[in-house]
Amino acid sequence: MPKILEDGSDEDEVKIRRIYIFWEYLANPAGSIAPMKRPVRPLISILLLIAFAATLSFRIAVRSSSMFSSEAEVLVQPPPPPPPPPPPVFNSTLLKFAAVELGEAKSKQEIEQLLEGKFASRGRYRTFASWRRFNHHETGATTSTGLPVILRSPQVYRYWLDFRRNLQDWARKKMFQPDIMMDLVRLVKHPLDRHNGLVSSDKKYKSCAVVGNSGILLNTNYGELIDSHEVVIRLNNARTGVMYEHKVGAKTSISFVNSNILHLCARRAGCFCHPYGANVPIVMYVCQPIHFLDYMMCNSSHKAPLLITDPRFDILCTRIVKYYSAKRFVEETGKPLDEWGSTHEGSMFHYSSGMQAVMLALGICDEVSLFGFGKSTSAKHHYHTNQKAELRLHDYEAEYALYHDLVESPQAIPFIPDKFRFPPVVIYQ
Ligand SMILES: *[C@@H]1O[C@H](CO)[C@@H](O)[C@H](O)[C@H]1NC(C)=O
Ligand SMILES: *[C@@H]1O[C@H](CO)[C@@H](O)[C@H](O)[C@H]1NC(C)=O
Repeated sequence: MPKILEDGSDEDEVKIRRIYIFWEYLANPAGSIAPMKRPVRPLISILLLIAFAATLSFRIAVRSSSMFSSEAEVLVQPPPPPPPPPPPVFNSTLLKFAAVELGEAKSKQEIEQLLEGKFASRGRYRTFASWRRFNHHETGATTSTGLPVILRSPQVYRYWLDFRRNLQDWARKKMFQPDIMMDLVRLVKHPLDRHNGLVSSDKKYKSCAVVGNSGILLNTNYGELIDSHEVVIRLNNARTGVMYEHKVGAKTSISFVNSNILHLCARRAGCFCHPYGANVPIVMYVCQPIHFLDYMMCNSSHKAPLLITDPRFDILCTRIVKYYSAKRFVEETGKPLDEWGSTHEGSMFHYSSGMQAVMLALGICDEVSLFGFGKSTSAKHHYHTNQKAELRLHDYEAEYALYHDLVESPQAIPFIPDKFRFPPVVIYQ
């Protein structure tokens, strides 16, 4: 059962109880449901009522043809099993729309160019060798202008081969394979267990807090509650420290970043960029294939694991957020679906780091708490920066709708395999 806020108001308790009932029901559909003292979702109540009535009339029918049943027997019967959850109805037009990756052709082309050593269009990267000088990993002037020259150095050549291999492997795995949700423990938790000197275990973490960076964190004092989770996931190197400790806590178990962040860190000698300490593992999603250069440099100097999210996990997250975004767009603007792209930067559209960190938590934790997700007119966009506007390439409203479904009706989330068991999720605001 999720932790109840120590200073929990009634509203919180109701929320938690609701989630708990729903969770128990999902986890144990054949068992009986505890008496519901608190309100549950009307749909479920109605379904329960129908099932109950149906079972009752069946019993009466059976009873009338059976000499052996007695009044008492009916009375002591356990309540009927709850009905299976209603099969989710997904709009197939939206499912298809969400499955099309607008930026795919461009991304493929970019990867091909990089594999051929063409960095020309990548601004300051120009050549592999100049990238290395730029990043202070190599000194000494060269006049290299392209691949043939840099290949004269065996050391650079080795890096070059590693870069190609990593990028190729990654590009090959980019496909829709939602079963990746059941593989996150192996892909992420196992390496972290080894790093922490533990035997890799398939048991999930007991509880995880995902700390978003919304300014709403400054309106509350969740620091201690956050730190009481077994695992705390923070995003994009958001600041912690004495000044914020009451608000956001001090513990960090996983630093989740996008590769733009690592790219900035890679400009510093030794890739130094560990706001939470050099021992904290980093999980990163790659937003531009060229960031594999940064990854290679930083991976070799990192003490803690630097893990790249599986591209199949990236694709799954992309589809889910796009589905929610497109659905909202059509429902709220009444415009046709094909105008969606122009409001969300089309091929640039991307889920936020927070969204993927939440998805990761679903896969590796038995209970998930979200802090710092959401906004309010009285709060800054980020608690630790003065960034005013949201990035248009994200659709935060769509992601909030997703989090809402995680709490209230996870079966309404598209693309997730039936086999996947959602952990209970609580949102603290
Ligand atoms: C599915 O979504 C499309 C696009 O929003 C809409 O035109 C269509 O009516 C929806 N279909 C159903 C069955 O709701
Ligand atoms: C990253 O570094 C770790 C530890 O040094 C190493 O085991 C791993 O193979 C490296 N990853 C890649 C893809 O090179």
